Amino acid sequence: MTDHVTLTHAGKSYRLPLVIGSQGELAIFANTGSCKSAITFLDGEKGILRYRGIPVEQLAERSTFKETAYLLINGELPTQKALTRFSVLLNDHSLVHEDMKIFYQSFPRSSHPMGILSAMVNALRSFYPELQRLEEEIDITVTRLLSKVRTMAAMSYKISRGHTVVYPRPDLTYCANFLNMMFDSPVRPYEIDADVVKALNVFLILHADHEQNCSTAAVRVVGSARVNLYAAISAGIAALWGPLHGGANQAVIETLDAIARHGNLRELVARARDRSDPFRLPGFGHRIYRTYDPRARIMKRMAHVLLEKLAISDPLLDVARELEEIALKDDYFIDHHLYPNVDFYSGIVLRAIGIPTNMFTVMFAIGRLPGWIAQWKESMEDPEWRLCRPRQLYTGPQERPYIPIEERS
Ligand code: CMC
Repeated sequence: MTDHVTLTHAGKSYRLPLVIGSQGELAIFANTGSCKSAITFLDGEKGILRYRGIPVEQLAERSTFKETAYLLINGELPTQKALTRFSVLLNDHSLVHEDMKIFYQSFPRSSHPMGILSAMVNALRSFYPELQRLEEEIDITVTRLLSKVRTMAAMSYKISRGHTVVYPRPDLTYCANFLNMMFDSPVRPYEIDADVVKALNVFLILHADHEQNCSTAAVRVVGSARVNLYAAISAGIAALWGPLHGGANQAVIETLDAIARHGNLRELVARARDRSDPFRLPGFGHRIYRTYDPRARIMKRMAHVLLEKLAISDPLLDVARELEEIALKDDYFIDHHLYPNVDFYSGIVLRAIGIPTNMFTVMFAIGRLPGWIAQWKESMEDPEWRLCRPRQLYTGPQERPYIPIEERS
């Protein structure tokens, strides 16, 4: 049963739904904040996204992923000295225990890389006991994760193809190193292209944090039980895998590809608007944004620039543009405030870089890692932080007696 209460504050009145449970208990369902956080600011009406106060547009243009990760985790942009120390730590912890290769080889070839990544990150705890007492020790656990997850992602790709694993190189930057581990081969050395490295940096920066999204909330909830950081991040990866969350980037490309092959663009928009059809257009809509996702705007521009610089013509970019145009003029999409989100154009960028479709969500996970770590660290350092234990509104039966099986109808 739903009623309403009115809350008045600073001369403004807010009408809130008051829901009454089957035992008569009351709950007010509203836009409740799950925590206090000083990391990311998001305004869904105006399309604003800032990390530690800095607009994401400025970071995408001028920063690197490594520097942005430092900013999110530590609260400030690093000095040159701090950045050098961070780079040294990332390099020192970039190798993965050789025994972990055996795990990779034991997964069926058809396994999704997100399932493998979640399991492998959890397994890291057995190989690298967590250090989290002194600040310096936390730094080591954190850089281990940032560096090793990148190495593990590239390793999983190489092993899935039956190719030799390429080890990290100390002379390469964070993103160049990843690309080299992914694509270098004894028979075809990988040539590092500055435009591709820049595109990867921007892709990862745009995914680096997004306040209390589903996977971050999972990291905070699991972390609140004071489990080790690896287990909390592993839970975040599992949540991100879902097609309503990070898995949407893979779903978008599969959808665009199907349209390119079968040409059913308008039919698809019609399905998305049909209430009796559970289909939702992947890459459109967002719980918070009621306007164009600022990340999608940057991603769209970058897709054009990158394709032009690499002289690539991707038919899926044309399909995406056409689909966006039709959707943005459609009454249903207008009424529901459905605009492209970060996942809509990101796959076009990843394809141009050479990333296979089933690795798209892994790329999102590499990007979101600093955000998860920053949010976990913030919650651990909060003196008021308690075990996450949400309450519910009970809607089940009233008390009733147990009936022996022979008396049940
Ligand atoms: N296509 C068609 N209809 C949609 C879509 C869509 N993509 N998204 C929302 N709607 C409709 C929904 O059916 C509902 O309609 P009605 O009120 O008439 O029943 C209305 O819009 C509001 O939807 P909602 O389910 O209350 O909104 P939500 O905040 O729960 O959903 C969302 C957010 C992202 C899950 C949803 O927009 C969606 O499923 N989008 C497609 C998947 C996707 O692109 N996910 C990536 C999100 S951004 C990156 C990330 O966070 O990982």
